[in-house]
This record gives sequence, C-alpha cells and structure tokens, in this order.
Amino acid sequence: MKITVVGAGFYGSTTVQRIAEAGYADEVTMVDIIEGKPQGLALDMMQSRPIEGFTTRIVGSNDYAVTAGSDVCVITAGLPRKPGMSRMDLIEVNAKIVGDVTRQLMATSPDAVFIVVSNPLDEMTALCAKVSGLPKERIIGQAGMLDTARFKHFVSEATGVSPLEVEAITLGSHGETMVPVPSLVKVGDKPLRDVLDQGQIDEIVQKTRDGGAEIVGLLKTGSAYYAPSSAAAKMVEAVVQDSGDVMPVCAWVEGQYGIKDVYLGVPARLGRGGIAGIVELPLADDELEALRTAAEAVRTKQADVDSFL
Ligand code: 2OP
Repeated sequence: MKITVVGAGFYGSTTVQRIAEAGYADEVTMVDIIEGKPQGLALDMMQSRPIEGFTTRIVGSNDYAVTAGSDVCVITAGLPRKPGMSRMDLIEVNAKIVGDVTRQLMATSPDAVFIVVSNPLDEMTALCAKVSGLPKERIIGQAGMLDTARFKHFVSEATGVSPLEVEAITLGSHGETMVPVPSLVKVGDKPLRDVLDQGQIDEIVQKTRDGGAEIVGLLKTGSAYYAPSSAAAKMVEAVVQDSGDVMPVCAWVEGQYGIKDVYLGVPARLGRGGIAGIVELPLADDELEALRTAAEAVRTKQADVDSFL
C-alpha cells in the first residue's frame, strides 16, 4: 500500500509521521517544492524507525515521479492563514496550488482516493474533483473529523468528562457555517442539555467554530497541525483498511438531508473506493436548517472555483 502526502509543512509532515508510525502502509511519499525539505524530513523520520519500531518506507522528493501508483493521496499544499484572515481569503492562491498538485498526481496515480485538507476546505475539495474529473466519491475533504475533535475537547473541558467519553459530531462547512450538532452530543451516557445550560452550550459551539482561528492567533505564523494531521491520518487508515467506519467528512451530497450537488461536511462511510455512503442522522429542525444554509453558503464558490485557476 502506497500513500502520498503533498506538502512537507507541519500539517503534511506530521501526517506522514502518523501514517508511517501506524504501520498500515508499505511506503509513504512526501512531495514539496522546497528543495531538500521533504528529503531531509523523510531521512529524519526513517532514522526514527528502529526506535519507534515501524518499517514503513518514507521517501521525500521534489519530483512527483516518486508518487506513481499511490493508493491514497493527501493534498496539504497551500498557504495557511495568518492571524485575522478567514480561510476564504486563501482561495485565490491555494486554488492555483491545489489545481496544479491535482494534475501532477493524476498523471501517475489516477486510481487513487484523494483526501484534500487545503483551505478553504470545501472549495478546494470541489476543485480537486473538477480538475481530476474523477468520480465524486473518490475525492474527500478533511474537516469534520477535526472540527468534531475540537467540539469534543471543549465539551470535555466544560464538563470534566474524559474526551474519550464524549460522543459528538460537527457537520456543514469548515468555515463560518460550521454546524456542531448539540442535540447528538452525549457526555458519558447523558445528553449534553442534561449537563450544561443553553448559554454554556452556545459558547462551546462558538468556540468550536473559532477553533482553528484561536490557534492561528496564538501561533502567529502557521496554523494547527497536531489535531488536523490526526484527523487526516485516521481517514487514510479507514480508506486503506476498507473499514466502513462512519466519519464526518466533506463529501459530495446527492439528496441526503434535502441537499444536492455540493461538497459538504456530512457523516459518511469510508472504504477502499473513498465514500461508500452518506449517513443521515436525525437532526433537530434548527440543525437541519443550519446544514442547508451551510450548503447554500459554499455552493456558489464551489461552482466557480475553477475561475481561480
Ligand atoms: C484548522 O482549522 C488548518 O483549517 C485547519 O486548523
């Protein structure tokens, strides 16, 4: 099994490390335009193998030739936000990068499943689908896993319950119209509304929506990568192992939730072919409305996203 990660920044390289250490792939290739960077990081990770106890080969290169025949390609290339920027402010510059990366990967890995993490996420996922021309189920965006993990974190901090005992999900866009779903949150076995009042729940929902921006503001340069890379690596694993696990991801929606023909954050079953099916959860009326609003918010930009190429 061969996995490629494009982009050797913090997000890309940490994703490579997580995939390699998990041990389910034979080889992970990492490509970046900066000379020496992917090679140096790959060499460093390879030298950690005797200590960490894994045998995955890690190859770094500036040349896409090393990526040929990949089963899964993760696209992390592009600029991160600076403090005060919205993810949408990156659309012009990142569309050119993601478009080019998609073409290069398609040349030698046309059978791969593509996982996009570059921002603005929903639009870059749609762009990868357009440029590749692949069936929509083979292109998946990573956002819901991360936003859900942040939602669980904030619920855990507010309630004192272990993050491993919080059940939660976040849908919608990876932006202003993110839809954390309080009605489906369970803390231990209790519904969230039995544990926190509405004001506290609203605060957690907003903190979740602002989760990425809070970290960008603290770091000053660059954006989050530990939780994001965990999310991306978990999706790669589900695809490679054909697990059928249901995860919140950015997927092409075809009528589910009354929404059609748009890439949007929804729960989906992941398998060897990418998206194996979208799961319709019972949402409260206001949550369903918010999901439909999110779809309309990302639809126009997605339709025109190739105008930025
Ligand atoms: C975040 O939310 C990088 O968009 C990513 O941190």
